[in-house]
Amino acid sequence: MNLLLYGAPGSGKGTQANMLRSRFSIPHIATGDMLRAEIQAGTELGRKAQPILAEGKYVSDDIMIGIIRNRLRQPDCEPGFIIDGFPRTVPQAEALDALVDELGKGIDRVIYLKVPVDQLLHRLSGRLVCPTCQRTYPPGTAACESDGSALVQREDDKPEAVRPRIEIYLEKTVPVLDHYDVEGLVSEIDGRGTIEEISRQVLEAVGPNGTAPAKAAKRTT
Ligand code: AP5
Ligand code: MG
Repeated sequence: MNLLLYGAPGSGKGTQANMLRSRFSIPHIATGDMLRAEIQAGTELGRKAQPILAEGKYVSDDIMIGIIRNRLRQPDCEPGFIIDGFPRTVPQAEALDALVDELGKGIDRVIYLKVPVDQLLHRLSGRLVCPTCQRTYPPGTAACESDGSALVQREDDKPEAVRPRIEIYLEKTVPVLDHYDVEGLVSEIDGRGTIEEISRQVLEAVGPNGTAPAKAAKRTT
């Protein structure tokens, strides 16, 4: 099962990817998490990416396509993968099409988590994240359930970066949905319920074994 999780900043991609990873035992490939790991490790890429993420802008298509190209070739992606945060631009979507084709794979489903902007702002301003494993938590959580680390605020969840992130999403990433809509791959999910309610809808869209047949796109925007 090869899945894309699509949605605005704070729509719950990471939260639902975590559920899908545990359920289907396939890797969760989160480009934002990969960039933050590079920043934390102080690599050349991390040094370049740090100010871009802090300002809520996008890292260049060339760099991001290179990252995904390397990652999807790893053997753990053979049984399937869940990509979260890529593609974010139409050129990235076109590059992914070519890459999966080259690898003899396809994209089975694009899960679109649709959440209104006021809720996105609320969620991002209160979000906590584990600096060790990157898992995200709602406000008020004390420590990471996986490794016990004290939770922190993400640098780009500070108010000055949140608006630019949503604006660039509307400008550059919304057209990506049309790219997949044309192929009938998009399952739109109302992302406003509880985490458990959304998980139920995501599982319904992908099927109990990740084998639900693709349905015609159901979009309200
Ligand atoms: P990335 O890390 O991908 O950030 P994002 O897309 O802005 O998304 P978030 O991780 O902020 O939100 P999410 O949808 O995962 O929500 P979450 O589950 O945490 O990218 C960061 C940056 O990296 C980008 O800005 C860019 O600079 C760069 N980058 C990455 N990929 C790139 C690319 N392809 N091209 C160029 N640049 C790239 O949930 C949010 C909060 O809400 C949490 O607190 C959670 O607990 C809570 N929550 C979740 N679901 C619910 C619910 N149903 N009800 C209530 N609360 C909920
Ligand atoms: Mg995320």
